[in-house]
Amino acid sequence: MADFSHAFARRTRLRGGEELAAILAGSPPGVLSMTGGFPNSRTFPTDELDAIAARLLRDDAGVAMQYTPVAGLPGVREFLRERAERTQGRAPEPGELMVTSGGMECIALMCSALVDPGDAVVVEAPSYLGALMAFAAAEAEIVPVETDEHGLRVDLLEERLEAGLRPKFVYTIPDFQNPTGRTLPAERRRALVDLCRRHGVLLFEDVAYRELAWGGEPPPTLWSLAPDVVLQAGTFSKSFFPGVRLGWAAGPAAVVAELIAAKGNTDQCAGGLGQRLLEEYGRAGGFERHLPAARALYGSHWAALSAALARELPGDVAWTEPSGGFLTWLTLPEGLDSTALRADALAAGVAYVPGAPFFVGEGGARTLRLSFSHLAEPELAAAAERLGGVVRAALDRVPQHTSGR
Ligand SMILES: Cc1ncc(COP(=O)(O)O)c(C=O)c1O
Repeated sequence: MADFSHAFARRTRLRGGEELAAILAGSPPGVLSMTGGFPNSRTFPTDELDAIAARLLRDDAGVAMQYTPVAGLPGVREFLRERAERTQGRAPEPGELMVTSGGMECIALMCSALVDPGDAVVVEAPSYLGALMAFAAAEAEIVPVETDEHGLRVDLLEERLEAGLRPKFVYTIPDFQNPTGRTLPAERRRALVDLCRRHGVLLFEDVAYRELAWGGEPPPTLWSLAPDVVLQAGTFSKSFFPGVRLGWAAGPAAVVAELIAAKGNTDQCAGGLGQRLLEEYGRAGGFERHLPAARALYGSHWAALSAALARELPGDVAWTEPSGGFLTWLTLPEGLDSTALRADALAAGVAYVPGAPFFVGEGGARTLRLSFSHLAEPELAAAAERLGGVVRAALDRVPQHTSGR
């Protein structure tokens, strides 16, 4: 077999995508997997989409099955503008919005349009693995800024900017963050947009989980507060279904124009059939009809998992309390390492994502991410029980550890 490794680009060696590939590949049979941020397939509106797809193929094939403009079909963009007005209280101008092939494509387009090798990009520590990989592949200098229980430490970002840091953008996930599940409070949002405006720094806001709040609406989006300094990436993967691969970018017209130009070098347009499905579903009130049930489902899953964690885990394990989204973030006691424990967990029939890959460089050894979106509630309880067993057994091996429970 010929060896083509000499032909691979340098960026193929910068990626480190094993963790993401493992998540997407799923877990072995018998393992209760709390790894991927996958929506629950019970939320997929199959019957409605069955009828809409049949109608589109019959009556609208000339549009739905054709290439579309790079920025998206005009009707779809109009629907997205109206929807932004309803959900965020502000409608982007036509030149301030484009359709993307999912949230991840917007991240890739931002890299291709804005990031030259060596450019600084600020991320939260920890942050979304897919984004970290894309920034690394773009050869960015990734600058992590610490987070606390309320999300990004805007005061520390301020120190960095005041000390002369000039990033191409600051990437942030303010609502039910991946991986921590935390939400940035309103006052920090205002401070963040003011800070970035003052320093002329673009904020890159990822709102992937925003529509899945079960514990009250999150504070206003950064983009709605400051459309002049925020580029927002949205996705329909969590609120509609990921197989449709659709999202949006909304922000300053000059930035959106560059993203549209960059999209011309990748897939040239998001799939027309998915765009028309989304538009018809959305205009018929599908989101208003189905999102409340999806939010209730995830809220109920979290209630089941959080009760099971409290029951099953030693008292010195801590975890975040999300009020939306799919994710919680655990911190294990001193002396434990979530990467080292993963094999024991798999042997016990439970899978999680170790926290370390969500950090740039060192950190996160005692942390791990759990997704409670797709397992059923009894399975979540069983998964917590298995995890509890693994953590207790590991603690028994730590010299001088006395468990809090
Ligand atoms: C924070 C965040 N941004 C973006 C994405 C990617 O979204 P999409 O599936 O639409 O590409 C994800 C997916 O898990 C995510 O968690």
